[in-house]
Amino acid sequence: MWWSVAQPKPGSDGSYPVDKATAISGQKLLRNIMLDNNIELYAAYGKVMNCGGFGNCGTCIVEIVDGKDLLNERTKDELRYLKKKQESWRLACRTIVGNKENSGKVVVQRLPQWKK
Ligand code: FES
Repeated sequence: MWWSVAQPKPGSDGSYPVDKATAISGQKLLRNIMLDNNIELYAAYGKVMNCGGFGNCGTCIVEIVDGKDLLNERTKDELRYLKKKQESWRLACRTIVGNKENSGKVVVQRLPQWKK
């Protein structure tokens, strides 16, 4: 199950809230999982200007906090947009969650580029 927060603002202990999901077996785009669960993926600009999930805008960045093993490898589009970014950052529209053998929980930080 996913849950969401309005913006990634640090809590009183300085840590940032995260969103969580349980990936059932089978492949699904992280972007679709987030949209299906009404989790806001984009900041204001990306909300209006995103490419619709074709890997062409780089506005759907998320940070994978946990569950990396459930995901596909970084795609060509991600290598381009996330070249100098942390390994844990992904484009949600290029990230596939789960496969026939794997299921489990994925924990995601939205808009990691907003963190200070
Ligand atoms: S929605 Fe444009 S790159 Fe992901």
